[in-house]
Parts: sequence; structure tokens; C-alpha cells
Amino acid sequence: MDIKACIFDLDGVIVDTAKYHYLAWKELARGLGFDFTEKDNEQLKGVSRMRSLDILLEIGNKKTDEEMKLKYAESKNNKYLEYILKMTPDEILPGVIAFLDEIKALQIQTALGSASKNAMTILNRVKMNKYFDVVVDGTKVSKAKPDPEVFLKAAHELGVKPEECIVFEDALAGIEAAINGGFKTVGVGSPEILGKADIVIPGLEGITWEEVIGKF
Ligand code: G6P
Ligand code: MG
Repeated sequence: MDIKACIFDLDGVIVDTAKYHYLAWKELARGLGFDFTEKDNEQLKGVSRMRSLDILLEIGNKKTDEEMKLKYAESKNNKYLEYILKMTPDEILPGVIAFLDEIKALQIQTALGSASKNAMTILNRVKMNKYFDVVVDGTKVSKAKPDPEVFLKAAHELGVKPEECIVFEDALAGIEAAINGGFKTVGVGSPEILGKADIVIPGLEGITWEEVIGKF
């Protein structure tokens, strides 16, 4: 198996920012007079900010115009920023640094492939910039996952073919994006949600390169 690079999603794979997205969306929903549950939040994982807002408004059965939508999205993001600007390296998920150190030592290239426009802010906060050879985030793509654009761009910038990369993703939309782009996939989370991935692991804690590669 000739794997030259690994591409990592950010939210839910490298750091647990899904909880902050959830809290910020929940607060917006509360302000609009409806409840937004953790189960509802599953639909928003890996999905762009504006698409997430559309899904949230559908759940609350609210119709509104584009101008208000921009205001809602801004208000959610301001709340989200309050949380992420307080993040520290302690919030890097277990096993992430050890796994990245291991693959870097093996000369495997690394990229971040995230839908988030806040990815650089988060990487700076948790001091992880040096771990990624390439960062493709929500500011660099126009098509949201499950479109493969974010991962194709990362592979292109790394100078590798999709079939030479493994994508690590915690969201169904992200696994679908990777499959659509012709990448190998590792689902990070529960097999019930991520069953389409080539393999599913609960998280990177205790995971070695040999173990991952051995499963393909
Ligand atoms: C990630 C998260 C989504 C989030 C999206 C956009 O993919 O999983 O929940 O909506 O990024 O994030 P942003 O920080 O740009 O609002
Ligand atoms: Mg994610």
C-alpha cells in the first residue's frame, strides 16, 4: 500500500470543537424560540456554516430572508468565537499529537481539510500549525462537503493523488466527500454513523500507523 499523505478534518478529529458549534447553535435556536438537541446537531457536523443555518431553521420550522440569515450566522459565529478564543492545547483530542509525530517521522505528508472558516484561529490557539504541511479550510473552497473540493485541493497542494491519501473524518458528509474524491477513508467516531468509511476507529488514542495501514 503506497500511502503518501494523510488529510485530517479539524472539528471532531483534531479538536473537540463540535461541542462549541453545538452550544452556539443551541443558543441561536433558543433565541428564536425552539430547542436544538444534540441529535439534531449530528446533521450539522462537517456541513458549512450557511448550510448548517438552513438545516437549523428547517428544524425550528422558521422561514426568513437572506439578510436575516446573514445576521443569524454572524451572531452564531460571534458566540462560537467566544468559545474558541479561549481554547488551549489541552483541548487537542487524545492521541492526535502522538499519531502525527509518528507519521511525520515516517515521511507521510499531512494536511488539514476543514470546512471551517475559523480553522486557522483554532490551529493558532492549540498551537498546531507546524503539524500540517498544507491547510485547506473554509476560506479556500466554494463547495461544501460532501463535495470533495476541500480534499482534492489538499491533495493537489501536497502533490499526491487521492488514492495515495487517507482522509480522517468524524462526519458523514466528510466521509462521503472523501469517497466522492477517490480517497481512502478512516471514520473517527461511531460505526453506526460512519459505516461507509473503509475503517472506523473511536478516536486516535492508542492508534498506530501500522494498525491503520494494516486494515486496508
Ligand atoms: C466544520 C464543522 C461544522 C461547521 C463548519 C463550518 O465542518 O464540522 O459543524 O459548520 O466546519 O465552520 P465555521 O467555523 O466556518 O462556521
Ligand atoms: Mg468534523
